[in-house]
Amino acid sequence: MLKKVLLSGLQPSGKPHIGNYFGAMKQFVDLQNEYDSYLFIADYHALHSLQNPMEMRENIIGVVLDYLAIGIDPKKVTLFQQSDISEHTELCWIFDTITTMPYLARAHAYKDALAKDKEVDVGTFNYPILMAADILLYSPDIVPVGADQKQHVEIARDTAQKFNNTFGETFKLPEPFIKDEVAVVPGTDGKKMSKSYGNTIPLFAEYEEIKKCVMGIVTDSSTGIPKNVYAIHNLLRPASELLPIYKEKEGKYRELKELLVEDLEKFIAPLRERRKKFEKNIPLVLEILKNGAEAAKKVASRKMNEVREKIGVKV
Ligand code: TYM
Repeated sequence: MLKKVLLSGLQPSGKPHIGNYFGAMKQFVDLQNEYDSYLFIADYHALHSLQNPMEMRENIIGVVLDYLAIGIDPKKVTLFQQSDISEHTELCWIFDTITTMPYLARAHAYKDALAKDKEVDVGTFNYPILMAADILLYSPDIVPVGADQKQHVEIARDTAQKFNNTFGETFKLPEPFIKDEVAVVPGTDGKKMSKSYGNTIPLFAEYEEIKKCVMGIVTDSSTGIPKNVYAIHNLLRPASELLPIYKEKEGKYRELKELLVEDLEKFIAPLRERRKKFEKNIPLVLEILKNGAEAAKKVASRKMNEVREKIGVKV
């Protein structure tokens, strides 16, 4: 029996945080045996916010190290770089021709950028269509992501449907795979954890950094249980274990934070050490990317040939 297909991606935008991990990356690891998995580094997506070539190179290598450190096995998973597979941008253009501007103007990320009075670049506007191409080239059954990417997967579905209606059945309709309890991992201020809010706990933080982040968690003195501390703690331990502790230590915010520091360190230290080991083996990283690109190219180019035939440019 053929395995079902999983696809997802991470932007090389710097240090990942525990929101990325619990919201999406952990699912990649948990499902890698069950699914034929395609995981990639969305470097062309990152280009709209990262325009420093040295940093781009470093971050791309960094994402491979992140994947390896959390336990992704490159022998089981096709791990590749988006920019290595030119079919992504080619298919994006074809999708652009069947997508209307008012439709894309409804995307949250674009609306947020507009609301901040930013002069929005075309790449940001078109971000969901490149993402649709990333997804649809590999015919995945599931796309594990956090809730903030749900609309993007829906746009990919709509785009697949639109193409299929126009040119005949070509693309499988993808489903987002979102775990309710970690759909929106909160940051140290209780809002969604996000680099742009400065409220993150880095996934590979050193002990001192963990301490600083946790001590900075915003607490509300109106209740005995500091809900922002509890919400992060609950990522690491079930309520059945945590509630008795929080009850016993009601009002003792400092002690509860110290306990969270220790639990985070227990969880992060092994990941951090694994990443350091892989950091010493950059040739391995490059080889993984080369092999991944070869494997991904086969799948993507087969799909693109089918698309070229369907739209009639293959004469
Ligand atoms: P990126 O790199 O910004 O985020 C990576 C993943 O982390 C999830 N995430 C969260 N989940 C729960 N709580 C949070 N606070 C939180 N913050 C981030 C994101 O939902 C994401 O799943 N557009 C994608 C990259 C991408 C992609 C794709 C993903 C490009 N093409 C095709 C899937 C399929 C992104 O911005 O990821």
